[in-house]
Amino acid sequence: MHISFAAPAAKIQAGSWVVAASEGSVLLPAALKADKASGGALLRGLKVSRFTGKSGQLLEVLAPAGLSVSRIVLVGLGKPGALDEKGLETIGAQIVARLHTLGETTATLEVDAPKGSKVKAGEIAAHLAFGAKLRSYTFEKYRTRNLDEYKKRLGELLVIAPDAAAARRAYAGLDAVANGIFLARDLVNEPPNVLFPAEFAKRVKALSKFGLKVEVLGEAEMKRQGFGALLGVGQGSVRESQLVVMQWNGGKKKAAPVALVGKGVCFDSGGLSLKPGAAMMGMKGDMGGAAAVTGTMLALATRKAKVNAVGVIGLVENMPDGGAIRPDDVLTSLSGQTIEVLNTDAEGRLVLADCLTYTQRRFKPKCVVDLATLTGAIVQALGYEHAGVFSNDEKLVQRLRDAGVHTGERVWQLPLDPCYDKMIRSKIADVKNIGGANSGSITAAQFLLRFIEDGTVWAHLDIAGVAWQDHEHRVQIPSWGTGWGVRLLNRLVKENYEN
Ligand code: BES
Ligand code: MN
Ligand code: ZN
Repeated sequence: MHISFAAPAAKIQAGSWVVAASEGSVLLPAALKADKASGGALLRGLKVSRFTGKSGQLLEVLAPAGLSVSRIVLVGLGKPGALDEKGLETIGAQIVARLHTLGETTATLEVDAPKGSKVKAGEIAAHLAFGAKLRSYTFEKYRTRNLDEYKKRLGELLVIAPDAAAARRAYAGLDAVANGIFLARDLVNEPPNVLFPAEFAKRVKALSKFGLKVEVLGEAEMKRQGFGALLGVGQGSVRESQLVVMQWNGGKKKAAPVALVGKGVCFDSGGLSLKPGAAMMGMKGDMGGAAAVTGTMLALATRKAKVNAVGVIGLVENMPDGGAIRPDDVLTSLSGQTIEVLNTDAEGRLVLADCLTYTQRRFKPKCVVDLATLTGAIVQALGYEHAGVFSNDEKLVQRLRDAGVHTGERVWQLPLDPCYDKMIRSKIADVKNIGGANSGSITAAQFLLRFIEDGTVWAHLDIAGVAWQDHEHRVQIPSWGTGWGVRLLNRLVKENYEN
């Protein structure tokens, strides 16, 4: 969808004209203008509807006489004092959702700041546009039939704002984030026969044109350096494992970077500890952590964030061929610690272990945040509304919590504690890769902690419940892959690490 901004003088020509009212059906100036231009059609329509101006309510007046627009859409903003960025984004998405079902292809959005709103007009326009953009995402590349049904989309959105330049400026940073989210969604939505580790790496390489420095390590190089845990996971697959390192250097020279680490299991069959059929479905999304890291790095680069950031993703396929690791195998990780593998389906922590060691030793980062669709247990605990966060630094947890509340990508803290360590004690190696029957998300995090070196500020986000959605689709997220994490990490960086 193409979004542009213009000052109020612009003449509304075709498509839908979207105007707003606050709670109590108080028409804002553009709505009054639309009512007048249509000979009072909007107020007449209001009288015979249940519209009250509550946030997200919509009222349509079709083919109004005296105007060349296809319809006037009145949208409710709710109470002016309660307007915030997240709410505006939801409203923007709700508008686009409706226009999509109506088959509308162009629209003009003219929303004034209601009296009593804390959000300024330019910001209102920008955040409505951001929500609209997030909703406009589609992933239809594998459809070959009934294309008309899928292709008829809102293609053009003109946003009218009193200070169009301010709105455009406010939107520029948001558009960068939206594009990062779209990339993450695309990567998660792609089927695993298309998006295997080398293909994923190739797509990251292509981001060099946005100013990211991208390096790819293949199996030979990783073997030379001793990535025994990551390579162990990939050894049952015909697809070559890859480590991808992305750097964005927008901060001060030599300033330590913020590091983002992602689990990139392009397909998780479970390996020899094979998953049953129903549980294997959707495991193309087991690279959601890597997708979020990649999307965030793209967002930081395109909005030219004043920060040094590094993204490290471990890309593998967990498969059960004759060369696969066995339950009982012992692997030597990059850190030197040995790991007894008792369940090949607990593979994410093996991949992350080496990625974490590599990231800390090479970059000495200010902090490390890893994202992984790590455990089914986190879905049991928190469902689809929060990611789990585990950390050795309360300040970082608070920062993530704040960023989560602001963006809607919320996190909930679970404990790390030495008392769980006995659950991952191995009979013959330094650690084993599974705990007991209970507290599976905590023992997984406790395992990762073994690979965090002294002084490293670290948080682990278990995103197994939020990286994709099989059930309800949120209005800003029309696809299976959610792109979860891009907004959160972008906000974390913006609020705490930019200079
Ligand atoms: N990728 C899965 C976790 C997962 C499960 C993500 C469901 C999303 C939805 C992970 O690799 C896994 O298989 N974890 C096991 C660990 C167990 C074997 C200790 C799990 O959660 O069952
Ligand atoms: Mn697994
Ligand atoms: Zn997995």
